[in-house]
Amino acid sequence: MSTLVILGAQWGDEGKGKLTDYLAKKADFVVRYQGGDNAGHTVEIGEKQFKLHLIPSGIFYGDKICILGNGLVVNPKSLLEEIKYLNDRGINTDNLKISDRAHIIFPYHIKLDQLEEERKGKDKIGTTVKGIGPCYKDKVERTGIRMCDIFYNESFEAQLRENIKNKNEIINKIYGSESLNADEIVEEYLGYIEMIKKYVTDTTALLNDAVKEGKSILFEGAQGTFLDIDFGTYPFLTSSHPISGGVSIGSGINPFALKGALGVVKAYTTRVGRGPFPTELNDEIGDEIREKGHEFGTTTGRARRCGWLDIVMLKYSAQINGFSSFAVTKLDTLAGFEKLKICVGYELDGKIINTFPASLETLARCKPVYEELDGWKEEDMRNIEKFEDLPKAAQDYIKRIEELTEVSVGIVSIGPKRSETIIREEIM
Ligand code: GDP
Ligand code: IMO
Ligand code: MG
Repeated sequence: MSTLVILGAQWGDEGKGKLTDYLAKKADFVVRYQGGDNAGHTVEIGEKQFKLHLIPSGIFYGDKICILGNGLVVNPKSLLEEIKYLNDRGINTDNLKISDRAHIIFPYHIKLDQLEEERKGKDKIGTTVKGIGPCYKDKVERTGIRMCDIFYNESFEAQLRENIKNKNEIINKIYGSESLNADEIVEEYLGYIEMIKKYVTDTTALLNDAVKEGKSILFEGAQGTFLDIDFGTYPFLTSSHPISGGVSIGSGINPFALKGALGVVKAYTTRVGRGPFPTELNDEIGDEIREKGHEFGTTTGRARRCGWLDIVMLKYSAQINGFSSFAVTKLDTLAGFEKLKICVGYELDGKIINTFPASLETLARCKPVYEELDGWKEEDMRNIEKFEDLPKAAQDYIKRIEELTEVSVGIVSIGPKRSETIIREEIM
């Protein structure tokens, strides 16, 4: 497939980074189309582990053009730190490009994120406090500052000062907190923009030319379908569009140019931050999954909430994203459980439903209906290369996902490394 999006089918952290790195081998371009440094994508190559927040997971090959699309909100400080982190480890970042239409995160976005979470108290979202929501808010409000603005230092500074002044009013008068220092921020950012100018370009033109030339383009989603601002568990979600529909909006390729969508599905469910989670396990099984799967956030280090696989979610996700196939990750984490459960429907007011409700109050009244499957004993599945060599119960688990969702599982991941990947279908 010449254009493919790899995106999370659940609440993020499904293993998109690993899959993107794996599939990028055959790609010419790897493109992020939404989010910012709230993402944390882990890639393991040999004995080395890398954690990326902004830079696409195709960077490790050296020859792939890696793009931060217009749909991103970019914190230049984090970006420069990430470039340094990679360069210090011998990874070349010369092929990085940033859309001239991407928005910039400033310290007032981060401050407002933090203040708003504090104000919400027990009702907080549990954001990554990276300023993501406030930056997207400015974009929609039409007061944001974009990458193209950094080439005009004078107007950049004037707009930045105006924004800081306005935000300080909010920070003082609404939140009763201390003002940010405009001179310090201006000086800091005038420094950053000099260092990032060389990466900024018209990535929309670049990508549409690449589409015309039949180049191979991978889009790397951040977050996941249930964190999508429209289709997720509102308001406990992020402020962008991780879904496949977001690819066109966040990169500028025409919507008909996208040929496929790979839904990355963790073999169970996890979530960081607050919000509803029908199959959550607040017991020793949940704890065991967290320990075995090392379910701690890549960006914030927070313990991820864990629960059984939810087919209702996957069906909804498949509907919205039009998945051409699934990649099921972390199947190895489930090894050793005698019995496994998957949620095949929700019971609501005595009836079984298999659609995902919009209202969180309705969702809270839904009780998961489980089907029980046999577990498998082999604790170490990592050296298996063929699907047929997996324990039979593990194969049956995957086949049951296919039956219930009507989406084929093209890839099964049994460990964080490139080699720990079983390919059942040609994806890219
Ligand atoms: P992303 O945000 O979707 O890229 O996922 P994260 O990197 O935040 O979290 C996924 C974690 O699981 C990372 O630590 C990966 O190295 C790891 N991982 C990915 N696939 C597998 C797998 O099949 N098995 C195991 N055990 N770990 C995996
Ligand atoms: P990757 O790309 C998991 C969650 C936060 C919070 C909510 C809003 O690694 O899968 P935000 O800072 O975006 O305003 O936070 O979204 N969240 C993620 N959860 N994986 C992520 O990214 C996430 N990015 C944001 O925990 O609940
Ligand atoms: Mg992550």
